Amino acid sequence: MQVIGKKIAVLATGGTIAGRASGPQDNIGYTAAQVGVQDLLAGIPGIGAWSVVAEQVAQIDSKDMTFAVWRELALRCAHWLSQPDVAGVVITHGTDTLEETAYFLQAVLAPAKPVVLTCAMRPATALAPDGPQNVLDALAVAAADGARGVVAVCAATIHGAHDVAKQHTYRLDAFTSGDAGPIGYVEEGRLRLLRDWPAADRAAALALGKLPAKDPWPRVEIVMNHAGAGGAIVQALVSQGVDGLVVAGTGNGSLHRDLQEALTQAQDAGVKVVRSTRCPQGPVLARSDDKLPIATGLSPVKARIALMLELLLR
Ligand code: SIN
Repeated sequence: MQVIGKKIAVLATGGTIAGRASGPQDNIGYTAAQVGVQDLLAGIPGIGAWSVVAEQVAQIDSKDMTFAVWRELALRCAHWLSQPDVAGVVITHGTDTLEETAYFLQAVLAPAKPVVLTCAMRPATALAPDGPQNVLDALAVAAADGARGVVAVCAATIHGAHDVAKQHTYRLDAFTSGDAGPIGYVEEGRLRLLRDWPAADRAAALALGKLPAKDPWPRVEIVMNHAGAGGAIVQALVSQGVDGLVVAGTGNGSLHRDLQEALTQAQDAGVKVVRSTRCPQGPVLARSDDKLPIATGLSPVKARIALMLELLLR
């Protein structure tokens, strides 16, 4: 049950939820990341009933997300989560890379309190913006008894960090949890839960101190299998000193023989290689003749973050 009155930290990073268009009927010709967090919150009817402390951590279109913003966001989350009187954190974020930030934060925080990313598909200036309801739903999740871990709330649906993915370019209900299904729904401020929250893990927080403030993060690139795929891109990346490669294979992580050969050579040369799939649903299942390791149920973009963190923390 949600409890209005619990203190929630709202960390703003930009996105369409803070976007401005030239007129109320323009839902796509806007500039993201224009409205500051105080104005964003002030425009939400009913927000006054909540005890909220707000911070502007970044003001960007999430397509331009950087490792520096991720690190700062993780540190600010850790700060607020450590305050005994704070029940949880809400992060306003662009939809385009929300699933990556959610996965990253769960990997480095695995918090015992909830961290709830929310967003909007329409700018703040729209005739019927979706951001205000999404923020209220996110607050309800952040204040819910028993809530924990990093989740995303969009269109009244609660998605776990591991499974959430943007699936639609335009619809307000733009996210899916694939065949795992959502954690639950927010209905008139109340939660209807279908499955458990992401696991809390105090050891994960150790990773925070190892996130580089200035040095470059390991370079991990994504390549894709497709008809006519070859090894030239892999060879070019290896010659540039890439640290890791994630390949978005076809089907059950299958690869064109030329791409497979180049990736196997890269692996033999010391580059970490992980096989995911370009299929939006279903994990890559291991086979006895596998030459390249598989990403355990992770999409290519999330497998990339997992590999980057593995390289960073070893
Ligand atoms: C962004 O990801 O920052 C822009 C797009 C959006 O939020 O829907």
